[in-house]
Amino acid sequence: MTTPIYYVNAQPHLGHAYTTIAADVLARHMRQRGEDTFFLTGTDEHGEPVADVAEREGIPPRELADRNVVHFKEMGEKVGASNDFFIRTSDPEHGAAVQRFMQDLYDRGCIYPGTYEGWYCPRCADFKTEQEIVDGNKCPIHHIELTWEKEDNYFFRLSDFQGRLEELYAERPDFVLPRERFNEAVSFIKQGLEDVSCTRARLRWGVPAPWDESQVFYVWFDALLNYYTALTYAQPGEDLTERYWPADFHLIGKDILKFHAVIWPAMLMAAGVEVPRHLFIHGFLLMQGEKMSKSLGNVLDPFKVIEVFGTDALRYYCMREVSFGQDGSVSTEGFEARYNTELANEYGNLASRTLAMIARYRDGAVPRAQAPAALAGDFDGLVGEVRDRLDRAELTAALELIWARGVRRLNRFVEEQAPWTLAKEGKDEQLDEVLYGLAEGLRVVSVLLHPYMPDTTARLLAALGQSDLALDAATFGAAPGGATVAKLAPLFPKVEPGAQAA
Ligand code: MSP
Repeated sequence: MTTPIYYVNAQPHLGHAYTTIAADVLARHMRQRGEDTFFLTGTDEHGEPVADVAEREGIPPRELADRNVVHFKEMGEKVGASNDFFIRTSDPEHGAAVQRFMQDLYDRGCIYPGTYEGWYCPRCADFKTEQEIVDGNKCPIHHIELTWEKEDNYFFRLSDFQGRLEELYAERPDFVLPRERFNEAVSFIKQGLEDVSCTRARLRWGVPAPWDESQVFYVWFDALLNYYTALTYAQPGEDLTERYWPADFHLIGKDILKFHAVIWPAMLMAAGVEVPRHLFIHGFLLMQGEKMSKSLGNVLDPFKVIEVFGTDALRYYCMREVSFGQDGSVSTEGFEARYNTELANEYGNLASRTLAMIARYRDGAVPRAQAPAALAGDFDGLVGEVRDRLDRAELTAALELIWARGVRRLNRFVEEQAPWTLAKEGKDEQLDEVLYGLAEGLRVVSVLLHPYMPDTTARLLAALGQSDLALDAATFGAAPGGATVAKLAPLFPKVEPGAQAA
């Protein structure tokens, strides 16, 4: 499981956190399934954008990278990312592996010298095609004027891979998900592929081409290779390539589809290396209708949200608010509404009520009873359906399902059964069943929610006297009663409106 590697020319913002959180949810879910999982993230440190900012600040690019990488590592930690390695493309091991890979392509005749000319966006570090340009000659992403550039460099024979890429897409309908992005990649390929320039002559901040040290590799070739090179040195003294390659999932935003869906598989084919199994493409988080980015300055600060509401609340909100795969707006008001209604009231209260009733009516021991039939139907098949959705990276749909069939259903169950009345009327057997059903339902829901909210769910499970996080354990009725429950501080304490602004 991989995230894109982020550019170190800017500070991390919620957009980066979003991808990292989503990848982390999937990685944690795969671990729950018992899959041997390696989760990779990191930073993209070479290229024009970083060199430009460093020059403006009058410092060497490496110094800028060293300074900024700290913020990206911190972002990962703060959002609870469980990555197994953090790659920096300035790592010497990465550089050496890039040189080996590219030299091999050169020796195989897949790279040749040529002259490149075109509209270039320094922020994207990419030449733009005529179709992509907006407002005369502006970058569609950064809204800055593009410059016309011309230089002698080296080209990768992308056009040679037209046929093999078409075959790949014909054979593997789930290579790119969701479907609309698959279609976008196919139509891009069908338009006809041109060779792409893979080195830069003017730039010094990059990995030198071993056959011509006056050039460095174009940052995208260097960056894409991170997914593959990391495995050669992530574990000192051990090469993990055989164990983990091909990657199962590259998770990326829609802005970098072309590189991942066209150039990357072609590079791997050229080298005779297996292509990844799936690319998952998500949309943009918008604030007031515009893509969030450092350059636009319209950024919801994830660090601030975490400080006030906690990591899990941010993770939940990101995965819940915007249907994964689509673009969608986020806002502080929207965040607070979901925090109070869904997290504090629906999940948090359900947990405290259930624990309190077990303590009060049953001395803190989950009754040994039958699983109530009224709930069993709703939970039946739930794990499998969550699995299916996550196989397709439908992170929001999976979460909605857990909420509708689990959390909300359990809340209705409490109201329907009114355990306090059963207690008053001395209907012991029925009360046992209801309390067991609630504890068991909460357990299942918490195992399923664990990848989304690792810390909160672990705390709740511990309070329920449970510790098994395996997905196989998430079957309603699988855990017998008898566990001793413990007290639990509110999972999502009430926060005064507007606290984020403080
Ligand atoms: N360095 C390249 C990627 C190389 S991968 C081999 C790059 N870096 S980036 O810092 O610009 O990060 C881009 C990625 O950040 C997007 O693909 C997306 O995953 C994430 N996002 C950045 N802004 C975002 C939003 N506003 N919304 C959602 N995701 C966003 O491109």
